[in-house]
Amino acid sequence: MRILNKLNNSKVFSIPYGKQFISDDDIKSVVSVLKSDYLTQGPLVAKFEKKFAQYVGAKYAVAVSNGTAALHLSALALDINSKSKVITTPITFVASANCVRYCGGEVVFSDINAFTATINTEALNKLLKLSPKGTYQGIIPVDMAGYPVNLEELRKIADEFGLWILEDACHAPGGYFTDSKREKQLCGNGKFSDLTVFSFHPVKHITTGEGGMITTNSEALYKKLLLLRTHGITKDQNELIENHGNWYYEMQELGYNYRLPDILCALGVSQLDKADKEIKMRREIANLYDQAFKNIKEMEVVSGSNNELLEKGIGHAYHLYIIRTKKRKELYNFLREKNIFVQVHYIPLNVMPYYKALGFKKDSMPEAEKYYEECLSLPIYPSLKKEEQEFVIQKVSEFFNL
Ligand SMILES: Cc1ncc(COP(=O)(O)O)c(C=O)c1O
Repeated sequence: MRILNKLNNSKVFSIPYGKQFISDDDIKSVVSVLKSDYLTQGPLVAKFEKKFAQYVGAKYAVAVSNGTAALHLSALALDINSKSKVITTPITFVASANCVRYCGGEVVFSDINAFTATINTEALNKLLKLSPKGTYQGIIPVDMAGYPVNLEELRKIADEFGLWILEDACHAPGGYFTDSKREKQLCGNGKFSDLTVFSFHPVKHITTGEGGMITTNSEALYKKLLLLRTHGITKDQNELIENHGNWYYEMQELGYNYRLPDILCALGVSQLDKADKEIKMRREIANLYDQAFKNIKEMEVVSGSNNELLEKGIGHAYHLYIIRTKKRKELYNFLREKNIFVQVHYIPLNVMPYYKALGFKKDSMPEAEKYYEECLSLPIYPSLKKEEQEFVIQKVSEFFNL
């Protein structure tokens, strides 16, 4: 109580909606690379990739400079071009759709499921049935807030219409759903998706400052990604068209410099050691919020409580803890005044000026637009102190006169 009073009377503290968790081990790990011979493409890149692939249960992983680069390289590897039409959700960060535009492809939005805020499979099915097969090339589902899209269901639809799946799991390392054979399917394990992307931005589960990863079980896509990550250049003896000697390399495609340096991979390796513990801490905070807010009639938790989800075999990764309320704006202002820096995730992409200029209209995605009016992300991250959690609960309850 004393600490809560302190927070109530203090003007200097602030509670963000998300924040990194850096330990002494992380710092040691980075310093050891700084003292080594390789700052960029040294041994830590492969170490981080291998460890991450194991963490999500995929065959291959490719480390890149950020989640947006991961999406761009994936779009290139999947051959998105000016003739491609790709479907995604309007409720996501802009990069999920922009990767299609980088390659000159056309973005098509399909509305969300109001309960989970992820792509609505019924709406998607309807959309696909409106046009002849072959109209669309792929789908980019997003594990919004850490809620894992059921990719087994989505794969059935994708197979029927001949589509690839690029899963945007930037919010969901460690998230999982349970398939029809009762097997746990971790986000990014590549069982049902062609490629999966992750981001290591500081508000995400594990961070490398800036950073990203692509996972896949396809050797062909893996090789393509490696080539595209480094300017389209290969030195691999087996892949060279000619060979002039030991110095020889070839640029075989137009690629980029999207490499993640050793310094950052060292941080990633060390952060991964804590990933399971971190997600457990996120779920504990979610449990506390679920319990504290269950009697507030004017507000609901997107996708339901953690315990309800676990009963359904769903492991929410809780990058975000999102609630919906008709009083969103008032609650946002109230909490911000109390130095609780809640956020809105997301403004629907179809109303962004850039996408509007491409022909998208307001009121075309009713569920997404209604969701946007009501959603609010409360603070959730492993270093959120107990008294800060209590402070958030106290202020939300105070707002609703609980
Ligand atoms: C769903 C989603 N996709 C992609 C990205 C892009 O990741 P990055 O910021 O690492 O480029 C983000 C980042 O916020 C994201 O939330």
